[in-house]
Amino acid sequence: MIPITPSGNCMGVDVHGVDLSRPLHEAQFLEIRELLHRYHVLAFRFQDLQPRGFLDFARRFGPPEPHVLDQYHHPGFPDILILSNVVKDGKPAGLADGGTYWHSDYSYLPIPARATVLYSVQVPQVGGDTLFSDQELAYEELPEAMKKRIAGMVTLNVYGNRDDLDLSSRTSAPPPTQEQKDRRGATLIRHPLVRRHPYSGRKALYSVSGTSYAIEGMPEDEGLALLRELAAHSTQPKYRHSMKYGVGDVVVWDNASVLHSATLTDPAHPRTLYRVTTKETQPPSA
Ligand SMILES: [Fe+2]
Repeated sequence: MIPITPSGNCMGVDVHGVDLSRPLHEAQFLEIRELLHRYHVLAFRFQDLQPRGFLDFARRFGPPEPHVLDQYHHPGFPDILILSNVVKDGKPAGLADGGTYWHSDYSYLPIPARATVLYSVQVPQVGGDTLFSDQELAYEELPEAMKKRIAGMVTLNVYGNRDDLDLSSRTSAPPPTQEQKDRRGATLIRHPLVRRHPYSGRKALYSVSGTSYAIEGMPEDEGLALLRELAAHSTQPKYRHSMKYGVGDVVVWDNASVLHSATLTDPAHPRTLYRVTTKETQPPSA
């Protein structure tokens, strides 16, 4: 058994005794995947990885899907997105302030993200935590009447942050260029409001915040009001976990069962992370 330390919140564990710079046996990986589905967010502290080794580990969770904003891809490994608030010679070293609102990765794509995997390269003295919110527990604790009401509902999703459409704001999603939009991410995508986990079969609220702006078959304002009500419920402090990074930490989260939000960083405190986002093998099912 791989030793773990629970975070003390409703989810999240530190995983011990695994050196990710060495090849993982299949049995060891399957145990790690089980931990992910049970605890939703895993942290492997103090790892020492090269980009290729990091990518090899991330690939175990599914095929990587490079981010739509391709100007921030790692030069040698386009499957790795560089998240950074560092500016070198007037050019951003990576995507700064990405996803500072509650969302599930790639919920604007027909086949969204499975696991997101981060490797912490440079840690700021203050800030830079990632917040998570447990959407399985939030669903479980909904009143039965609400569970009945939302059963079978479908959300409509587009790229971006529905609650901040001011593109000059640091909490809106950085807009893709027309060419990037043409390739991906500009179409209306339908997803079940309550989805089943592809491995455990447990039900969770899905994409109630971030990219969803309407519910199919409902007037737009009514659907949005219901989504906001569900998001307010599902991001209450009792469902949350906050991740603090140290240099070398590898963090994995399960996009089928959590919402997450980055927090704004102060450019005076440099921060750099590598990110690989892996895809589901099929669209989410109700
Ligand atoms: Fe994200």
